[in-house]
Order: sequence, then C-alpha cells, then structure tokens
Amino acid sequence: MSASLGFDRAVSYYDKSRAIPDWVSSAVTDSIIELGKLTPRSRVLEIGIGTGRIALPVLKRGLPVWGIDLSLGMMAELQTKIANRDLCVTLAQADANALPFPDASFDCVYAVHVYHLVANWQKAVRDAWRTVKRGGCFLVTYHKRDPQSPNAKLRRRLFELAKEHGIDARRPGSQSYDELRSELDKLSPTQLVEIARWLERTVTVSQILGEISKRLFSDTWMIPENVLPQLMPSLRDWAQREFGRLDYAVREEEEFSWMVLRKA
Ligand SMILES: C[S@@+](CC[C@H](N)C(=O)[O-])C[C@H]1O[C@@H](n2cnc3c(N)ncnc32)[C@H](O)[C@@H]1O
Repeated sequence: MSASLGFDRAVSYYDKSRAIPDWVSSAVTDSIIELGKLTPRSRVLEIGIGTGRIALPVLKRGLPVWGIDLSLGMMAELQTKIANRDLCVTLAQADANALPFPDASFDCVYAVHVYHLVANWQKAVRDAWRTVKRGGCFLVTYHKRDPQSPNAKLRRRLFELAKEHGIDARRPGSQSYDELRSELDKLSPTQLVEIARWLERTVTVSQILGEISKRLFSDTWMIPENVLPQLMPSLRDWAQREFGRLDYAVREEEEFSWMVLRKA
C-alpha cells in the first residue's frame, strides 16, 4: 500500500465540507471530557488534528491539547483560528505511525476519521495506545456511510469502474470500521458509545456525482486526476439506470460514536 494521505489538498474547503452542527460539536466535546474524566490539568492528544474541527471546542473549554498531523496546511488553519487567543495548544508535524511522545504521556488520546488514511495503521493504533497513561483512555471514531445509501452505492460502483481500469482505489489505511475495531480490540476490549445522530443534509444523486468529480472526499484521491473524468460518464449512466433520476433527493444521516478503550 502507498503512503498515508495527508490533507494539504483539502485545506481550502475542509471546514465547509465537513461542518457539523453546533449541538453535535458540544456533545462531542462533552464526551471527550466526560469519558476522559478530564480536568484543566489533564493532557490530551489528537491524532490527525487537522484544522481543529474537534480540538478547538475542547481548547475553548480550557483543556491543553497536543495535536499532530502530516499536513502543515491543515494545522496552519487551526493556528489562524487561535491566533491571539489564550488557548493552550501544542502542534507538531508528525506521522501517526511514529508519535514524538514518550510512553504514558496523555490522559486521553483521540482520533477522528484518520486511520483509514494512515499507511501501516495497525502500527499507528499501537503507537497511540503506547502514549496513553494508566487510567487514561483512547477514543476512536470512523466515518461510516449507510451501505445502502445512494452515496455509498455510487462510491462502490466508482471503485469497480476504477478496478476495471486496473486501478486499486483503496486508501492506504484501515478498510472498514469492523477491521479497525477488531485491531483495537487486541489492545483492550472496545466499548461503543453513541454521541450523536443527525440529519446531515438532503442531496440529489446529481449533486453527489458533482462532489465525486470534484474529488472533495478522500475516497476519490487514489484515482489519478486524468482517469477520474474518464470514469464519470460510465458512473453517471449507471446512476441513471440504478436510481431512475439524477434529481432523486436523498436524506443523508450522520452518526458520531466513539470506540472507547481504557488502559487499566
Ligand atoms: C479527515 S481529516 C480529520 C481531521 C480532524 N480529526 C477532524 O475530524 O476534523 C484527517 C487528517 O488526518 C491527517 N493524516 C492523514 N494521515 C496521517 C498520518 N499518517 N499521520 C498524521 N496525520 C495524518 C490528514 O492530514 C488530515 O488532517
């Protein structure tokens, strides 16, 4: 498999395309604090901190956060957001596979939508676990799409079309929620905690096709830039046959759940 997928290419549109409602953001922040039993003296690490979508609300609650990411561009966005504010953040460009911290450094380590991007992700989850203190916790979430949703069906079909062109479009990291969870279970039995469920948006099949062709999400990034436009007409024809109409509107629901690991 290839190297990890950093997000430099997504900096300009990341926050807009991955926005979550304020109440979900609050619920996620509360959950980190409660599950980690955190106080302002606790030490928190986010793996793949990106633009701070998750970390910024935690910082605003007075907790010190360390963050690592491959992408300097993503972390520069976070730095812009916190400029001149009295927030305690320490950022480093690092690979999730080789965390620059000693063993047992943090009360809580968390990762949101990261391990599907990380080459040698099994080593990376072990490295994260290494940095958790005894009595601390490791929280991991993975973006799941309803496999029966038009969005998931379109993306599966795109992968098949890529394969027919001899392209393996799989990202370098874990390939599924189940695969990630079973690896985490080897470290400590995971507990699943649902934090929020919400209607993310109503979208048409045609809009989803537009997002795919613009390569907004990382599941299209393994397909070479010159090949994707060649696949789009076949995908569009397939969608027309599968869904009948391209203006067919779909409700997309989202869920945020943690896999929680506690270190005895
Ligand atoms: C989907 S974004 C999630 C960002 C943030 N956690 C959030 O939820 O908004 C994934 C992030 O992981 C970073 N990333 C990918 N592979 C990585 C690796 N091997 N080590 C560190 N960061 C990595 C990307 O650069 C990107 O910022």
